[in-house]
Amino acid sequence: MRPSLLPFVALSATVSAQLLVPLLRNPSTPHPFGRDQAPLMDPAGPGPAMPPSGSSPAEPPASAGGGVVLSDVMGRDRSINLFAGFVRDIESAARRLEDPSHNTTVLAPLNSAVEKLPRKPWEDPREYGALGPNAYEGGDGHERAQRNLRRFVEAHLVPASPWQEGQKIKTVGGDRDIWWEEKDGTRLIQPGSIEIVSVAGNVENGQVWIIKNVRNYSE
Ligand SMILES: *[C@@H]1O[C@H](CO)[C@@H](O)[C@H](O)[C@H]1NC(C)=O
Repeated sequence: MRPSLLPFVALSATVSAQLLVPLLRNPSTPHPFGRDQAPLMDPAGPGPAMPPSGSSPAEPPASAGGGVVLSDVMGRDRSINLFAGFVRDIESAARRLEDPSHNTTVLAPLNSAVEKLPRKPWEDPREYGALGPNAYEGGDGHERAQRNLRRFVEAHLVPASPWQEGQKIKTVGGDRDIWWEEKDGTRLIQPGSIEIVSVAGNVENGQVWIIKNVRNYSE
């Protein structure tokens, strides 16, 4: 990392990411776990027998039941496959989405929301400040990255489904209460007024909601 970027990176911890996005767009850092970022690297188009992705909140594409669980449907909608890959990297989260006895509402940010973050979800500017540009290299670095990515993923898993309008709840990551509300026909996650774009899956142990921005996971 160039030293001249550090003030910006540190600043981004305290200022809304959205303000800084145009300044800091930096999608080139490699994934520390070597996983392909499929939408960028796989030009092959949709796989065989994939149903069309869901787009209407009123008509979830998969019906509840039938032994299908969240982990089966997370990969179906390509517009969220960066987040689906992060979930697979975090074993506890992946297990939760396989578990038919624990319901979850997955708040899956669009790939475009992940790509426009000022830093990767596993990067923490405080760690760059304390440890320098190699903060995520080596065994310890890998552990730090995993811990940060887990915090990011768990801030997007709500341990309830159905999740009623106005129902305040803590995410699996256990940060502040969140809830959702409908305003002028748009459903918003609060706090943060993050728009719910569509429901991409409705299965035995929960639902996948596609959201327009990532939640603030950095406290
Ligand atoms: C879990 O989700 C299923 C499918 O939507 C629902 O029928 C069931 O009541 C939910 N269980 C709990 C404990 O909310």
